[in-house]
Amino acid sequence: MNSSLKFSAISARASESPIGEMMHRALSDPKMISLAAGFVDNETLPIELTARAAAELLGDRPAATRALQYGTNQGNEGLREHLIDRLERSEGAAKGSFAELSGRLVLTQGSQQMLYLLAEVLLDPGDIVLVEAPTYFVFLDVVKARGARSIGIACDEGGMRLDALEAVLGEIDARGELGRVKLIYTVSEHNNPTGLSLADDRRGPLVEIAKRWSRRSRILILEDSAYRGLTFSGTEPASVWSHDSDRDRVILARTFSKTLSPGLRCGYAVLPEDLVAPVLALKGSHDFGSAHFIQGLLEVILRDGSYERHVEELRRSYRAKRDVMIQALEEHFGTGSGVRWTNPAGGIYVWLTFPAEVDTGRGGLLMERSLAEGVMYVPGDLAYPREPIDPPRNHARLTFGVPRDFELVEGTRRLAAAFAECFAIPV
Ligand SMILES: Cc1ncc(COP(=O)(O)O)c(C=O)c1O
Repeated sequence: MNSSLKFSAISARASESPIGEMMHRALSDPKMISLAAGFVDNETLPIELTARAAAELLGDRPAATRALQYGTNQGNEGLREHLIDRLERSEGAAKGSFAELSGRLVLTQGSQQMLYLLAEVLLDPGDIVLVEAPTYFVFLDVVKARGARSIGIACDEGGMRLDALEAVLGEIDARGELGRVKLIYTVSEHNNPTGLSLADDRRGPLVEIAKRWSRRSRILILEDSAYRGLTFSGTEPASVWSHDSDRDRVILARTFSKTLSPGLRCGYAVLPEDLVAPVLALKGSHDFGSAHFIQGLLEVILRDGSYERHVEELRRSYRAKRDVMIQALEEHFGTGSGVRWTNPAGGIYVWLTFPAEVDTGRGGLLMERSLAEGVMYVPGDLAYPREPIDPPRNHARLTFGVPRDFELVEGTRRLAAAFAECFAIPV
């Protein structure tokens, strides 16, 4: 009998991301320059570093045996303690003052698994998540799959605008929906897609706002600092999490994907105490613990300073690539073109704003001409939630992560040529 499958509601909502289709197209055409994929630089992947750490781990029989066995659901205790020590140092806290937090740190399969778990634990259909507009589009998909709503908060050079956040909270309250607001999501450093960070002087007040508006139920802040460590100057503001003195308001999610290797798939979060058990209960159903071998490997890599040296080298390399891309934009998009872009102080993204009449979206003229010219970008509308207003369609995300210098220059030239062809603007 040929009966059709009946899928769950969550499966029906989790439509395949359009990015997958675009990436497929880019990879299947060797002449295409992709300024779209948010991958990390192939040239700087830590091959020797990882080989040395693997040899050391596998050369130590008891450690190797532990690493190749199942681990705990929460993750390798030694690594969790080490990460908490690092957090203490990076937040300027006294030695030992965060010690009990290793029990609240959960290691996951990339930070993406943590984002998904948190959505599973916290969101029911109809619940509300407040997000930067624009934001990390994969998280928008996660929220959508839960049947929850993402509502965008306007941003400026300093990231999420707190006056806009308060205004949106006020509107939600007036509609009687405040009790449905579960999370405020911020990508605090070098946001994907804009490259911009949440200003230092907004971090404490953001926590205060979350507290003040938690009249109906506790509103949590999810601080996704996936690009932490990649600030070119090497100096970063204290986390949003550090302003949460009660440690019950902010979830701090981090990852080794951007500063080391996404192939290792290791991320983690420090959770408010009452979230740990629910997250672990669901994680147990996912995988009863992320790859134990990788956690053992990371313990070795983090031990002797080679990680710091690697990240320093990455910062140097990404800063140089950022400069190449910005210079190419200046050269190929003349001042008369009306195109603007961010000049990020870290991370791997540049955000372009075209004149309002330019449609950068899929099926639009610019995308079509760009593909014909042999360059790909991420259409900006994908990074906006559908509320409170329809996504603008005149932005594009470019990345300088993977392309080599000549590809950054040539890719930018092709994009400018596509733009000129569509809009007959001299560039
Ligand atoms: C803002 C942000 N958060 C989270 C992730 C997930 O990264 P991973 O699962 O590799 O840790 C990404 C990946 O690109 C990202 O850009």
